[in-house]
Amino acid sequence: MSSLRITGGVPLSGQVTVRGAKNLVPKAMVAALLGSTPSVLGNVPDIKDVAVVTNLLALHGVTVNRDGADGVLTLDPSNVTQARHADIDAHAGDSRIPILLCGPLLHALGEAFIPDLGGCRIGDRPINYHLEVLRNFGARVEKLESGIRMSAPHGLQGAKIDLPYPSVGATEQVLLTATRAEGHTELRGAATEPEIMDLIAILQKMGAIITVQTDRVIRIEGVPELRGYRHRALPDRIEAASWGSAALATGGDILVAGAKQADMMAFLNTYRKLGGGLDIQDEGIRFYHPGGDLNPLIVETNVHPGFMTDWQQPLVVALTQANGVSIVHETVYENRFGFTRALNRMGANIQLHRECLGSVPCRFGQRNFLHSAVISGPTPLKATDINIPDLRGGFSHLIAAMAADGVSHVTGIELIKRGYEHFTDKLAGLGADFDLEDR
Ligand code: EPU
Repeated sequence: MSSLRITGGVPLSGQVTVRGAKNLVPKAMVAALLGSTPSVLGNVPDIKDVAVVTNLLALHGVTVNRDGADGVLTLDPSNVTQARHADIDAHAGDSRIPILLCGPLLHALGEAFIPDLGGCRIGDRPINYHLEVLRNFGARVEKLESGIRMSAPHGLQGAKIDLPYPSVGATEQVLLTATRAEGHTELRGAATEPEIMDLIAILQKMGAIITVQTDRVIRIEGVPELRGYRHRALPDRIEAASWGSAALATGGDILVAGAKQADMMAFLNTYRKLGGGLDIQDEGIRFYHPGGDLNPLIVETNVHPGFMTDWQQPLVVALTQANGVSIVHETVYENRFGFTRALNRMGANIQLHRECLGSVPCRFGQRNFLHSAVISGPTPLKATDINIPDLRGGFSHLIAAMAADGVSHVTGIELIKRGYEHFTDKLAGLGADFDLEDR
């Protein structure tokens, strides 16, 4: 286990580069399972989620080779095989990606097994939509003590599916299953995040026939065979926004090379309203604190094209420095404000509420979840000891420690490695004052 000893108060300034999106790359790796020939995926970051999926695919007979610094993966699915339950089970709790292996494995082998799922502790994170989707395609789903076993003795058939909520994962489940199912699939209530559009682009390269309408309807015509793809993953817009918030919270100036404007419109609008400085270029985006006061804001998280739930936590740190009362209404996850406890210990003034403090009542309003935050600022932050709770909340704690007066000890930084590539090197390059302590 390693921890960081951070001396705060240094404005983070300089340049970082973001590579392929954590929320696309593992799914693109899974898509390679659908091909009859090898796939080549570029711009792959060196993060733990990629390592977990590499191991899972290897257990299923997929050869994954990484070409070092360029982050190019070659994935060869020609020897796909059933993995031993005990081997897959060893990955229980590591990631939520295994649920997405089901459709491709059912096509390749007629059966699939997945362990209990991990991911960040930010709400219940059920998989009921996924299981319902797979049943719709004709899969038989059996819950065992160690995980879930599925089979498709009669193959998978196209289906009409209407999602109760535009879930990212369930939409990907439909895409990865329908492309090779027999006949047509109609998905209503689909998520349309840029990472999903990139996955659709990959599937189209493989030979899939997919139409995306503007009303959250996606139509897929199943084909009997797909080939491998060659693709460069779209950049990570969550990491890009995280560095943007870090620049604001620490009074710094960060050029995020690789950040793509089109996928970050909602964040950029919010950043500008808050008073952050932006210089949007083709090669990247410069985020900076222009001096003077930051403005308080009302922010509601939502599915794309709204303000992403994963942008919320680092931004909240910047909002503690705004002059007045800000409100953040979290409408995607019911339990995503746990990280604010540590910020309050550092001197922030953040109150959580059960009511929907936004313009639209959400699914969590009448259900006793603390899902709205009221942030009063500006409050100077002081150092403290923090144990990181989850990926995005953890990054916000790092930023807070960088902004705070004094020395903070931050433990649990392994969680950050799930989604932020080489983040300690990047922090060092931005002038952060910290020591890495190995225990
Ligand atoms: N939901 C259900 N049942 C399901 C699936 C989802 O009720 O079967 C609910 C969830 O509980 C949640 C909402 O639907 O309240 C949205 O969940 P979604 O399925 O969209 O999320 P996900 O696919 O599990 C991905 C990202 C998350 C990101 C969300 C929303 C990956 C690996 N994870 O999760 O990323 O927050 O979409 O954009 O792609 C992160 O990067 O830190 C992270 C948590």
